[in-house]
Amino acid sequence: MKHLIDPTDLTKEEIDQIVALAEDIIAHRERYQGSMAHKKLATLFYEPSTRTRLSFTAAMMELGGNVLGFSNPQNSSVSKGETVQDTVRVVGCFADIIAMRHPIEGAPLVASEVSRVPIINAGDGSHSHPTQTLTDLLTIKRELGHIDGITIGFCGDLRFGRTVHSLIKALSRYKDIKVVLIAPDELRLPDYIKQDVCDKMGVAYRETDSLDDAIPELDVLYMTRVQKERFLDEDEFDRVKDSFVLDARRMALAKEKMAVLHPLPRVNEILTEVDDDPRAAYFRQVENGKLVRMALIISLMEWKNDPAHGMPEHDAPILNPALHCTNPKCICNNEKHESRFRLAENGITRCWYCDSKVR
Ligand code: CP
Repeated sequence: MKHLIDPTDLTKEEIDQIVALAEDIIAHRERYQGSMAHKKLATLFYEPSTRTRLSFTAAMMELGGNVLGFSNPQNSSVSKGETVQDTVRVVGCFADIIAMRHPIEGAPLVASEVSRVPIINAGDGSHSHPTQTLTDLLTIKRELGHIDGITIGFCGDLRFGRTVHSLIKALSRYKDIKVVLIAPDELRLPDYIKQDVCDKMGVAYRETDSLDDAIPELDVLYMTRVQKERFLDEDEFDRVKDSFVLDARRMALAKEKMAVLHPLPRVNEILTEVDDDPRAAYFRQVENGKLVRMALIISLMEWKNDPAHGMPEHDAPILNPALHCTNPKCICNNEKHESRFRLAENGITRCWYCDSKVR
């Protein structure tokens, strides 16, 4: 069974296939209408969303399928204490495929371990957001004509920004990618992405706290919102919330063909005066989100019983009762799941579910 929990669950060839299928859907929309007739997508959203949930819904409707689910878990049996695994076991009796967003990291992973239908991670805490990554890759391809060889600047909240973590993982498989990490000290990219992804895969990166210095060299500027809901300390959020603002003055420093992406929603990190600049791609990116999710649904339904498209093989998890994940937002600290770990780069041991360093 093929699930999409992390971008690396897809091979680079599978990613390219999905992006190419999305481009074919754009060119031949009518061919795909009805391709999911009599199929049902369940959207289980334990956390707020506009783009992801509605684009999944619109994608399935455009393919001729139906959608069920919840956007407020308080109106479901989650409010009575039903676990993530029991919920997907039940919903798998009603739906052919499930998209799940959850504030707890690792929740879609534990769901996939018991599900009889494909699970799509629609965002888990600060951890991962692989369908936004597919959206971003399609957008880069359509805006610039290629993905290989780009210099991309990630600006803002690189610590909690799950879209940033997932996109760097996916880009690490492309050729000659250069990454510029633009963030204040408090919001720097987690070490596990730097070590286990950039260092391991040979992605060139540098860190800076100056958007003005970085912007002239970029092909893509990926702006992000500072994620208030992820901070445990409100004073810390207040100190960093207005770290970077993209305005017309800064756009004047950029290349003529640079593309500005943002997963949205924005708060105040891109002024509306930038919206009419032809390089502002963030609303086109939203539409790409629906198109690529159409391609993803078709692909996962096709691959469901195809052994050529299984999940990647991993080393067996480390089970060591002396180790403990200290991330309060990890599934292993919120529901009863066996503590599991993996050996990562530089001899570091990380939580199996959320990638936090445990030793
Ligand atoms: N980009 C994104 O995930 O937006 P939503 O939170 O509105 O789904």
